[in-house]
Amino acid sequence: MGSMQEKKRIAVLGAGNMGAAMIGGILKAQVAEPGEVLATTRSPERAAEVAERYGIRARAGGNREAAAESDLILLAVKPGVLGTVLEEIRDVLHEGQILISLAAVAPIRLIERLVARRMPVFRAMPNIPVIIEEGATAISANSVATPEHRALVERIFRAVGVVCFVDEDAMDAVTALSGSGPAYVYMVIEALIAGGLKMGLSHEVATRLAEQTVLGAARLVKESGIHPAILRDQVITPGGVTISAIHELERHGLRAMLISAVETATNHARARSRALMEQWKGSD
Ligand SMILES: NC(=O)c1ccc[n+]([C@@H]2O[C@H](COP(=O)([O-])OP(=O)(O)OC[C@H]3O[C@@H](n4cnc5c(N)ncnc54)[C@H](OP(=O)(O)O)[C@@H]3O)[C@@H](O)[C@H]2O)c1
Repeated sequence: MGSMQEKKRIAVLGAGNMGAAMIGGILKAQVAEPGEVLATTRSPERAAEVAERYGIRARAGGNREAAAESDLILLAVKPGVLGTVLEEIRDVLHEGQILISLAAVAPIRLIERLVARRMPVFRAMPNIPVIIEEGATAISANSVATPEHRALVERIFRAVGVVCFVDEDAMDAVTALSGSGPAYVYMVIEALIAGGLKMGLSHEVATRLAEQTVLGAARLVKESGIHPAILRDQVITPGGVTISAIHELERHGLRAMLISAVETATNHARARSRALMEQWKGSD
């Protein structure tokens, strides 16, 4: 492959929610011209929608052709379909291409086994706010990936949020924390809205205040760099309103609940990962 600064030809296999958001990132990072991005889907309707929205080429099926003509292949199908898609494209792949998989619970060694050649493979775990360029993505790579490859992949994900590189061992915990994390936060926002409604606030007021409270609190943690426990302490007045609510949250184990949720989800991801490896055992 030529210099990493050159424009690339990119295949996005499975342009669903994540795949489409990543097409946005690829175009924003100017890694490829729209005409050099080829996306695939299962249904022609979805392909037409994605082609229209991003001004790229998209078609239902045709993973092999898309992979064959690309420098970088982004696998954004569901984990259950990943193996089939890799089997479909494996003999058109070559060492000069880069593979990036977004599939949760699919280990790099499974992808390497299915492609049966030494090529740079990245496993990325983004989360859904990538669609508004506020994602949190953790990335790991195999030993073939060079610093140049890493820089290119980082550039793509940086266009849609924050990026960190981790050892692959950490990926199940990442999936449990930030991959699934937006769902936990949505529950918190939903419950705060319900609390406001119970106390007589209108839907509109409760929603606007709850969403901005979570957004503002998160930004303050991020921008101040102050530990959240200290920030929490700063809003407590002795004998005041906030401490009475905190007592209630502690009584119901809010923090222990979230810690356990991440632990349980990590273990679940590990088990799913093992099952996926088992399913594709002996397929090379
Ligand atoms: N959503 C998240 O929060 C999240 C977070 C981290 C990682 N991920 C990972 O991202 C991947 C995609 O998730 P998603 O939420 O974007 O799912 P999704 O919206 O269901 O997208 C999957 C896409 O794959 C297409 N597809 C299915 N079979 C195909 C095939 N054989 N060839 C080509 N395209 C095919 C589907 O086409 P149609 O639309 O035509 O059916 C759909 O557009 C998953 O592996 C998931 O683990 C997701």
